[in-house]
Amino acid sequence: MYRSVLVTGASSGIGETTAIHLAHKGFRVFAAARSSGKLKNLSGLGGGRISPVTMDVTDEASIKNALTEISADGSALYGLVNNAGVSVMGPIEEVSASDWKRQYETNVFGLMNVTRAVLPQMRREGRGRIVNIGSVAGRIAAPFQGVYASSKHAVEGLSDALRRELEPHGVKVSVVRPGFINTPFGHQEQEELARYTGESGAYAEQVKIYKEWHAKGHPNAPGPLVVAEAVHHALTADHPNSRYTAPKKMLAYLALRNLAPSAITDRVFKKVTGLDAYKKEKSA
Ligand SMILES: NC(=O)c1ccc[n+]([C@@H]2O[C@H](COP(=O)([O-])OP(=O)(O)OC[C@H]3O[C@@H](n4cnc5c(N)ncnc54)[C@H](OP(=O)(O)O)[C@@H]3O)[C@@H](O)[C@H]2O)c1
Repeated sequence: MYRSVLVTGASSGIGETTAIHLAHKGFRVFAAARSSGKLKNLSGLGGGRISPVTMDVTDEASIKNALTEISADGSALYGLVNNAGVSVMGPIEEVSASDWKRQYETNVFGLMNVTRAVLPQMRREGRGRIVNIGSVAGRIAAPFQGVYASSKHAVEGLSDALRRELEPHGVKVSVVRPGFINTPFGHQEQEELARYTGESGAYAEQVKIYKEWHAKGHPNAPGPLVVAEAVHHALTADHPNSRYTAPKKMLAYLALRNLAPSAITDRVFKKVTGLDAYKKEKSA
């Protein structure tokens, strides 16, 4: 009997690779995304153990329909991988209220919508695993990434509380924090940043510098398999870690963030991103 797992945001990047990896490792995988057309790549992969499911994590009716489809298949979910995510980038002052909402609706409320929908069944069974895909940005907030970083900080906080609430019910909760990973996400973030580089933007020069540094991040990063392997560990270990960082080299940055005073980390940020070259012009 294969254990069943639902992976959200499986049409691309980390979710797609995780769905395939878990199926190869013997899981029955329900791979979810908003459009079934985008899940076509997965058909026939993973030893035939992947089933595409249409689900928009911001739409509770769509979540309900997907879970009905999964249970009609006879599968009691053992695991949920909350991976679906978007990134809203830009200066905190200038990002519109609707973009702030879009960010939280997917990365925070969407994640909670799906989690709350699967928990009654997991609690009844007295077992289950929730794996939340956070980010290194859930601990380290870069400039012009504050909207996204704050949503991932929220994922860190709610995952801690959830882990403690669910421990007596046999449901284990982990956060997997990717650093830069080479997926289409980087391109989407570049497009977001480009919206704030126009001449009238109060932060345009800073955003241009940051954008140039950011552009090198994803293409030079490892592929999503490092994240998929961490997810697999979180789903299968007797005692899964509360947190995984992938790739592991990002642990050095997290240690710096945890141990060094902000005055130092702020200076490191400026140096690394090139933002130390920015000098505000004095107004006449
Ligand atoms: N790549 C990185 O460097 C990186 C670093 C840290 C954390 N992460 C996190 O890793 C996760 C996956 O990112 P990725 O790099 O794989 O990005 P990606 O390639 O852009 O994939 C994002 C996935 O999320 C899905 N999605 C977006 N909005 C959704 C919604 N409302 N309902 C359902 N699915 C939705 C997309 O599906 P459709 O649009 O097809 O529906 C897509 O499958 C995200 O949570 C991201 O924050 C990524």
